[in-house]
Amino acid sequence: MKKIHQKIHTWYKKQGRVDLPWRTTDDPYHIYLSEVMLQQTQVKTVLERYYFPFLKKFPTLKALGDAPLDDVLKMWEGLGYYNRAKNLHKTAHVLSRGQTHGSAPTLPSHIEELIKLPGIGKNTAHAVATFAFNKPVPIMEANVKRILCRLHTLKMPTDKALWGIAYDLIDKENPFDYNQAMMDIGATLCTPKNPSCDICPLGDICQGQEEPTLYPTKKKRVVPIREQNIMLCVYNDKISMTQRSGKFLHGLWGFEEIDVPLCAAEYIGEVTHAYTHFKLICKVYVYDALDKEQEHYFSTQEIRKLAISKVDDKILNLFLDTIHTY
Ligand code: ADE
Repeated sequence: MKKIHQKIHTWYKKQGRVDLPWRTTDDPYHIYLSEVMLQQTQVKTVLERYYFPFLKKFPTLKALGDAPLDDVLKMWEGLGYYNRAKNLHKTAHVLSRGQTHGSAPTLPSHIEELIKLPGIGKNTAHAVATFAFNKPVPIMEANVKRILCRLHTLKMPTDKALWGIAYDLIDKENPFDYNQAMMDIGATLCTPKNPSCDICPLGDICQGQEEPTLYPTKKKRVVPIREQNIMLCVYNDKISMTQRSGKFLHGLWGFEEIDVPLCAAEYIGEVTHAYTHFKLICKVYVYDALDKEQEHYFSTQEIRKLAISKVDDKILNLFLDTIHTY
């Protein structure tokens, strides 16, 4: 195993993305933030648009915990999966509250403590423990899962089996580089299609090289389609919006969903958005109200300052395109 660890380490130092900002800091809050952002978002997007502005606005856990949720959601706008932002905020709040006499809040270093915090699951707890506190524990991100499946020719392993393999394989002497390397190997060599087995540092122990793409088996998912009618209620050149209170996109501002469009409303087109568990199709109607029928109206500039979802952003753009073509 030592030889494999050495090969992984050498590969990482030469080919790994060693200069990613969350790999060159030892601030647990910065590392935790990056892990939450990277849960469902690509490195490029996090790096280019979200990580630095978020840290500029909320440089410490305390600053994050003290901020209004609306401000946090605004910095998360467009990243999706907004529960991540709400849980980050809650965690910062919980940790700040637990602090005595104004000392700075910190993240715990033990997996058992980390996992109790809002929004921190098994993998994120492992990632924070290893990357922020150098604990000799493995991580289980999607790219790593694929490597482990191929190493052992597993088509549909249980989580328990995968964690077992991961714990057996980890380089306990250098867990930070090992775990970061595994993610990079998965992202650049052990890719879903056309993996580069000939140059992989795990080549000596990988049983899946004959037909790597057989492992793991992809589950065919049929995503249901959800349709919504959205009505933009316009009054005095402003559009009505409400702050969502249901489970879905809670806290974000959005346009009104209606069962049946009013006869007087004009259909302007549809927008679609692919969520993980369903595809959303929104049919968009515009209604010019004669009275101030709704509670909150905003100009376009005002809407740009609110935290809104990707779908509502698409709807707003559709509306602006429509009025500009008249
Ligand atoms: N995805 C999740 N954690 C990551 C990390 N530390 N570096 C790159 N991609 C990641």
